[in-house]
Amino acid sequence: MRNFTDKKSAHKKSVDNKPANKKPVDNKNRVIVRVPGTSANCGPGFDCLGVAATIYNYLDLTLLRTNKFIVESKGAGSDKLPRNRRNLAWQAIKKLLEVTGHAEEYKGAIIRMKSNVPISRGLGSSSTAIVAGLTAANAIVGSPLDKNELLTLATELEGHPDNVAPAIFGGFTVSVMNNGGVQTFSFMPRVKLKLIVTVPNFELSTRIARKVLPKNVSMKDAIFNVSRASMLIAALVEGRADLLPLAFDDALHQPYRKKLVPGMTEVFEAAKSAGALGAAISGAGSCLIAFTTADSGLENKIAAAMVEAFKSHGVDSKALILNVDRHGAQVMKH
Ligand code: HSE
Repeated sequence: MRNFTDKKSAHKKSVDNKPANKKPVDNKNRVIVRVPGTSANCGPGFDCLGVAATIYNYLDLTLLRTNKFIVESKGAGSDKLPRNRRNLAWQAIKKLLEVTGHAEEYKGAIIRMKSNVPISRGLGSSSTAIVAGLTAANAIVGSPLDKNELLTLATELEGHPDNVAPAIFGGFTVSVMNNGGVQTFSFMPRVKLKLIVTVPNFELSTRIARKVLPKNVSMKDAIFNVSRASMLIAALVEGRADLLPLAFDDALHQPYRKKLVPGMTEVFEAAKSAGALGAAISGAGSCLIAFTTADSGLENKIAAAMVEAFKSHGVDSKALILNVDRHGAQVMKH
């Protein structure tokens, strides 16, 4: 983990060097960022693998030198997002300002959010808020932190790196935690994938989905996952779609979470029977995700089969057919 202190003092110095009495220009304090939704775990990679998807949330942020504080939100789950200082994007903005030495300068904000990522469904909506807040505030204060430093802050706020890493870097990500630091490898798979996500009509909180997990797992189950996660990354990096059919299975979390997602096993089977390479819970759920190659032409058939299988368990769902996002968080306008 890099040390923020040096950056902070370096940046402060340039601020201090400005001519005295020069009033800051406020339109420089506005930025718009776009952040992709993400699917964590990808089957066997519990808390370490993730993929960014072509579904986006937007944050239009203006930092203010007054205490004025406004949150406006449109789109998915907007009625549920806090409009006070508990707002997650603001928590991230505040953290970034503290770490870079700008907390005294900017006390207020106008936060406008437009969300397409469904909330509490396992598509990384909370990560988009964290990453958007950090990225936007960082851009406004002159980008003193690089993406790896943003990742460290985002992981502290989120608790694990597997959603925030792809939200920042794009592509597929492999993240390793070490003594509170995070190292991420991000890459675009050489197998061009379509992601078929079924979004059921119920939310699932990550807290509850983590509560059902055991404290310890067997050596047999650990080996099951290590072998598949390794195969998954090797196959994606080398472009070996033929090695993928075994690689999305999991023994560490899905067997325990299946009681929280009615029809999970049958939806996976329906996806595979319709030609998917594999299927998994997206993050902690409730979405289920299947994978096929972009040239298979099977994505609509797989989506219909998954929706139908959910329906036979009394769950209404809608399907999203997405690609892998290659950009991660992007500053759209500054
Ligand atoms: N790896 C996390 C989990 C993702 O499965 O609990 C949810 O944020």
